[in-house]
Amino acid sequence: MLIAWIDFDMMKWKLLFFIFLSWISHLQASEPDHKDLILRKVLTAYRIEPVTITPTYMGAKEKLGQMLFFDPIMGGPNNTTCATCHVRSKGSVDGLPMAVGIGSSGVGEQRLESPDAFVIPRNVLPFFNRGESSFTALFWDGRVQIGENGSFESPLGNKLPKGFENLLAVAASFPQVEPDEMLGRSVRRGGEKQATYHADLVDKTVDPDNFKERTLNVYSNLVKRLLGTPSASTPMQSEYRKLFQAAYPVTSEFDITHIGNALAAYISLAFQLKPAAWDNYVKGDLSALSQQQKEGAMIFFGKGRCVVCHSGNEFSDFKYHGIAVPQLDVGKHGGYLDYGRAKATGLAIDRFQFRTPPLRNVTRTGPWGHNGLFTTLEEAINHHFNPIPLMFAAQKGRPREAEIAGRLLSYRSPILAEIYPMAPSDVRAVIAFLEALQSDPILSSDEALPKSVPSGMNQFIVE
Ligand code: HEC
Ligand code: HEC
Repeated sequence: MLIAWIDFDMMKWKLLFFIFLSWISHLQASEPDHKDLILRKVLTAYRIEPVTITPTYMGAKEKLGQMLFFDPIMGGPNNTTCATCHVRSKGSVDGLPMAVGIGSSGVGEQRLESPDAFVIPRNVLPFFNRGESSFTALFWDGRVQIGENGSFESPLGNKLPKGFENLLAVAASFPQVEPDEMLGRSVRRGGEKQATYHADLVDKTVDPDNFKERTLNVYSNLVKRLLGTPSASTPMQSEYRKLFQAAYPVTSEFDITHIGNALAAYISLAFQLKPAAWDNYVKGDLSALSQQQKEGAMIFFGKGRCVVCHSGNEFSDFKYHGIAVPQLDVGKHGGYLDYGRAKATGLAIDRFQFRTPPLRNVTRTGPWGHNGLFTTLEEAINHHFNPIPLMFAAQKGRPREAEIAGRLLSYRSPILAEIYPMAPSDVRAVIAFLEALQSDPILSSDEALPKSVPSGMNQFIVE
């Protein structure tokens, strides 16, 4: 009898305790605490609005883009596709510090094993939300960007073909003409090995050193390779002809802009992101962020000064800044330097400046920095307010790095001097905040990957 009574009493207490707990958690979920009140002010001050999702679906144009994205027929020697370096399961990058282009095989680390392969001395950029109109500058140096009068600026200048629907479509038409990325080389420039030869994509009459002439030539040869002529077509070409016709029902003349527009349509669809925990918080769900993430957000928008450059819904101002990243003797330009923005504008003042990287899913796209120098997010963040440790480390065994250290520092943004020296716990909180910017693409991998491509080289369809 007594035992039964105790049991009953215990149950009563347990029940009361449970009610108390849910009351507390309810309070936490709905009552803003001190951090929430500060962050509310941040959201108002920076006019941060909940993200909206553009409705898209896999139509005929996206379908064509999907084929072109995964088909190695787009590359000179038929051994790279967009998906070779922009690997869906690796956060739409390759996980390497710098991309490995034509002449290699496989994805990720496997690509380092080929002795003939060409290295592209830049870190691969991801595709998340690249269809959004806020992306007004593309590539690390913004060589494809929206100009002041709203026109598309690109390395082709006024030779850029007319008909591109958006900036992403313009950018998607440049990997095919980069010799080390997808095009390959002519025989007289050491491309006689099949794996690095551009095959029929550059005519013998064309000067391979004349970038604009060569590029336009590649564009017309690529269209010929994909479509043949209406009277003489291989089975692959007639399949592509059907796909192009379905994607663009009112035209029968196709050029590079149709390729670029289709690739852009596919990339916009396949890598559009679901709202992240941060977006749910902005919408009003106060329990969407942990206490540490709220702390990190306060630093990001406050004393860390991150938002001065990493601003807006994509966390980039789409402008160019220098943060004195060591060069590692591997730059894209003369003397193994990477002049970044200066190569696109021709202005010395733009040297060593790079586009502020957008930060959605940045936790998934390491290593970081334009040359993949940062192996952890801690390193990347610390380098903003104290570049000395990594600059010093980079000088070991590289005398040239010491010679340019002063130059790198003189092009370093003065905004960085305003960053409050961050304690390790502050940096950890900011990283926790960056984790709240993580989310998966809306489209499942099943829908994003094709079953086969018209060339039949289906082994290049990698997730
Ligand atoms: C060999 C590896 C490689 C291949 C193949 C490749 N890319 Fe890239 N991609 C890169 C690298 C490296 C960057 C950064 C280059 C830079 O900014 O200078 C990049 C950047 C981009 C960007 C800019 C993104 C941004 O945030 O600004 C777009 C768009 C893009 N690639 C599209 C494509 C498309 C479309 C294809 C296929 C037609 C393709 N890439 C094939 C390596 C590759
Ligand atoms: C002066 C503008 C500026 C400020 C302020 C700034 N950043 Fe950056 N950030 C950049 C630029 C530019 C790069 C790329 C530099 C490069 O690779 O050469 C970068 C790179 C990064 C990267 C690596 C991203 C990637 O995809 O490789 C992270 C992470 C980052 N910043 C976070 C932060 C955080 C956190 C703060 C605040 C403590 C901050 N940044 C403040 C401009 C800035």
